[in-house]
Amino acid sequence: MIFCPHIMRTVNICVVGTGYVGLVTGACLAEAGHRVVCVDSDKKKISLLKKGKIPIYEPGLEEVVKRNARAGRLLFTGSVEEGVKHGGHRAEAVFIAVGTPPRSDGSADLSFVEHVASQVARAMEGYTAIIEKSTVPVETGEWVHKTVTRLAKPGIAFDVVSNPEFLREGSAVDDFLRPDRVVVGTSSARAAELMRAIYAPLKCPVLVTDVKSAELIKHASNSFLAAKISFINAVANVCERTGANVEDVAKGMGMDKRIGASFLKAGIGFGGFCFPKDLEAFYWISKQKGYDFSMLRAVKEVNEEQKLWLVRRAEEELWNLGGKTVALLGLAFKPETDDMRFAPSIDIIAALKERGAKVKVYDPVAMPNAKEIIPGVQFCKSALECVRDADCLALVTEWAEFKNLDMKKVHSLMRHPLLLDGRNLYDAQAMRRLGFAYKSVGRK
Ligand SMILES: NC(=O)c1ccc[n+]([C@@H]2O[C@H](COP(=O)([O-])OP(=O)(O)OC[C@H]3O[C@@H](n4cnc5c(N)ncnc54)[C@H](O)[C@@H]3O)[C@@H](O)[C@H]2O)c1
Repeated sequence: MIFCPHIMRTVNICVVGTGYVGLVTGACLAEAGHRVVCVDSDKKKISLLKKGKIPIYEPGLEEVVKRNARAGRLLFTGSVEEGVKHGGHRAEAVFIAVGTPPRSDGSADLSFVEHVASQVARAMEGYTAIIEKSTVPVETGEWVHKTVTRLAKPGIAFDVVSNPEFLREGSAVDDFLRPDRVVVGTSSARAAELMRAIYAPLKCPVLVTDVKSAELIKHASNSFLAAKISFINAVANVCERTGANVEDVAKGMGMDKRIGASFLKAGIGFGGFCFPKDLEAFYWISKQKGYDFSMLRAVKEVNEEQKLWLVRRAEEELWNLGGKTVALLGLAFKPETDDMRFAPSIDIIAALKERGAKVKVYDPVAMPNAKEIIPGVQFCKSALECVRDADCLALVTEWAEFKNLDMKKVHSLMRHPLLLDGRNLYDAQAMRRLGFAYKSVGRK
């Protein structure tokens, strides 16, 4: 990252929540030259970070954290008050980057955001921009504003800003440092100027809107991307029934600039901490406001159905799954992350076990997290150990390691060479030449 300290305004920043988004935000803003204190209520995380250890798997993040911690631009603490006071220098900008998990009715649980907003309000000693980095439903800014007004010391000015984050796990550092755009929701000129100063080193377009529009941009963007995935998966289902090839269809569609080529890869559906919950929360808030956004329901239904593609194919080929062994390669919701939240593998494994299958699994990095939430499966040390004596290989996550597997060896180790490719990772002809009974999504 190149920044020019002589023309840049250095801002004292506090980031509350050091998860996938908060840690990347804090580390990258320090990389951009700002002075950052990262806060987390999880003492274990803070103690690891203070030792220069990264609690999550995110390529490239460790170097950025270490470099900036060494330079004294990136500090860690367990106390919001300490973070806001910023070692006596006072944070002008406080990012809230805590979780907004789904409640059982689909709405976002905003209690963590409220809690942090209250703590920040009590700790503020002067003008502060309180920035929603977490993904929150439209109108959350108004609630944050009310909360801070109620709890802040009299006479202390503040603004609530919406600054949604669009990074993707697996390429988070690069996404943060080289964004397509930064969205800033505020109607305050002072806050807008501060946000421009914070993001100036990134030299990217900054779109300033009102708070509500910025909040909506995030929900609408994620729901739109999820809709693209469900759309191409639905098209894949038609391809399977007609003999067309979804990859050619997607290519033909994507060459039209109005459509674009990204997010048109057929597979076994989306997961992760963002798309499923943001889709639900967007549907919920729309309904709450009197609009039934039924299209979002369809996007979810297609995805739920698609997650069981592997199970349906396994049954078509092996009949009853009771007593059969399924080797599942990949547990994380996508490659290059250890994140298991709402990973399709969880539902697939549950469905296989419900049918009496024995399930062996392997993932290059997500197994420690998976062990905490998936009982009753055999965790293997390698992909080859996983496929040994299996009746079916189910490819769930398209890690490069699986692309580069010795498939001849895989074939020789399996009891029955059924290869169900949930991510269209392999070349169909090559797999059939090796002797696999090969099925992929929307392809012959
Ligand atoms: N993960 C992504 O790819 C991604 C991308 C864009 C936006 N988002 C959004 O960003 C937000 C955070 O997501 P995440 O994936 O980083 O979650 P996360 O669970 O990885 O991180 C949240 C962190 O907040 C900490 N925390 C909770 N309450 C706290 C408190 N009171 N004080 C201090 N720390 C506290 C937790 O200990 C945790 O470390 C969510 O709203 C999410 O939807 C996530």
